[in-house]
Amino acid sequence: MAKDTISIDTSVLINNIQELAKIGKDTKTGGITRLAFSKEDMQAVEFLTHLIKRYGLGVKIDPCGNIYAILDGKNRDSYVMCGSHIDTVPNSGMYNGVLGVLGGIESIKAIKDAGIKPEHTIMVGSFVDEEGRYQGLLGSRIVMGELNLDHLKNFYDGEGRSAYQAMKECGYKPDNISEAVIPHDRIKAFLEFHIDSGPILVKENLACGIVEKFAAPSFLRLLIKGIQAHAGATPMDMRHDPVMGACELANFVEQVAKKSSPSAVATVGYINASPGVKNIIPSSVQMHFDIRDYDKFARDDILASLINKIHKVCWTRQLEFEILEMYSLEPVACSKKIIKIIEDVFRKFNQTPFKLTSGAIFDSATFAKYVDTGVIFVRCKTSISHSPEELVDPTDLEVALNIFANTLLKLSTETS
Ligand code: HGY
Repeated sequence: MAKDTISIDTSVLINNIQELAKIGKDTKTGGITRLAFSKEDMQAVEFLTHLIKRYGLGVKIDPCGNIYAILDGKNRDSYVMCGSHIDTVPNSGMYNGVLGVLGGIESIKAIKDAGIKPEHTIMVGSFVDEEGRYQGLLGSRIVMGELNLDHLKNFYDGEGRSAYQAMKECGYKPDNISEAVIPHDRIKAFLEFHIDSGPILVKENLACGIVEKFAAPSFLRLLIKGIQAHAGATPMDMRHDPVMGACELANFVEQVAKKSSPSAVATVGYINASPGVKNIIPSSVQMHFDIRDYDKFARDDILASLINKIHKVCWTRQLEFEILEMYSLEPVACSKKIIKIIEDVFRKFNQTPFKLTSGAIFDSATFAKYVDTGVIFVRCKTSISHSPEELVDPTDLEVALNIFANTLLKLSTETS
C-alpha cells in the first residue's frame, strides 16, 4: 500500500467500543449513562488513558480533564487536532462521541504503525461535558479560550454542583484553566468523526457524509411557581396549577416550531413537578426547552414567541415564573478548504461526497468558529441517537473510518 494511504482494521475499534460501553451500561435497557464527571465517566477516563499508553502514544490530561492522545510530528508546535467525547446523555447509545475519540486513537495508531512521521503533531482530544450536564461543549469551549473560572463556578448540574466543584472532586485543577487553552494559530485543522444523529444518511442510502454546517440551538430553563394545594378539595376555578401552564407552553412551542420552517425543531426534554405526588396540585414545575434551526433568525423568532407566551400564560393563570438560564449558540459552518480535502478522500474510496447540515452540535461546532474544521458522519442504521437504539453497521464503519483516518493523514502530512 502506498505511503499516502493507511488502512484500518475496524474490528479492533469495534472491540474497544464494546469494552467502553460496559462502563455505565444498564443491563435491562442496554442504555449507557456516563454523565460528565460522574464515577462512570472517571472509569471511562481510566479505560482511555490505559488504551492510549498501551498503544505507545503520548498522553496528556489538561487541568480541566480534557484528555489527549498524541502522535508527535516533525513540528511539535503545530497541531492537527481531532476528537470528540466519552461522556453521554442519560440512557445513551454506545457510538455518540465515542466513535470520534476511539476512532481518532485507532487512526493515529495506524499512522504510527505505518512508520509515518507527520509534519504536524496530531492530537486526539476527549473533551469534557460535551453533552451538557454543565451547559455542553464545555471542554472544547475551554480549549478555545471561551470560558474562565467564573463560568466554571457558575455552571451547575441538576444537583446544584458547579462544574468547578465537579472538576475538583475528580482531581483536576480548574484554577489553572488558562493552561488548558490551545492558541488558535497552532491548530492547522480540526476534524471530527461522529455518528449521524438523525435520518439523513439512511434516507440517502449512504454510509457516510460530510457536514457543511451546524444548526443553531437555544436553551431555556424555566421555573413556574403556582400554589400547592389539595388535589381533591380544591375546585378547578381556585387553582394556580403550574403543570397546566407548563402543558400549554409545551404545546405552544411544538406548534410554533412546526409552522416556522421544515428545519426548525423544539423539544421539552425535561419537565419536573414538585413535590410530585398524585394528590397535590404542585407548587412548582421546572421545564427545559431546546430550540434549533439552521436559520438563526427563525430560531430567535421561536424563542421570542415562547418568552411572550410564558408571560401571557403565567399572567392568565396567575402563576409566577423565573427564567433560570437561557443561552444561544450561533450557527457555524465547516471550512470549505477542509470539505474539499474530505471530498477528495471520499472519491478515492469510491464514495459519493454527500454534504449535509447537522441538527446536532458537537465539539467541532466550537472549533469551527476559530480554526479550519471538518466533520465526517457515519450512518446510524436506526436513524436514532441519544438512545440505546443507536446502531452502526460494521461495513459502514469500515469505509467511514478509513476515510476519516486518511483525511487526518493528509492534513497532518501537508507541509503548507
Ligand atoms: O445536543 C447536541 O446536539 C449534542 O449531541 N451534544
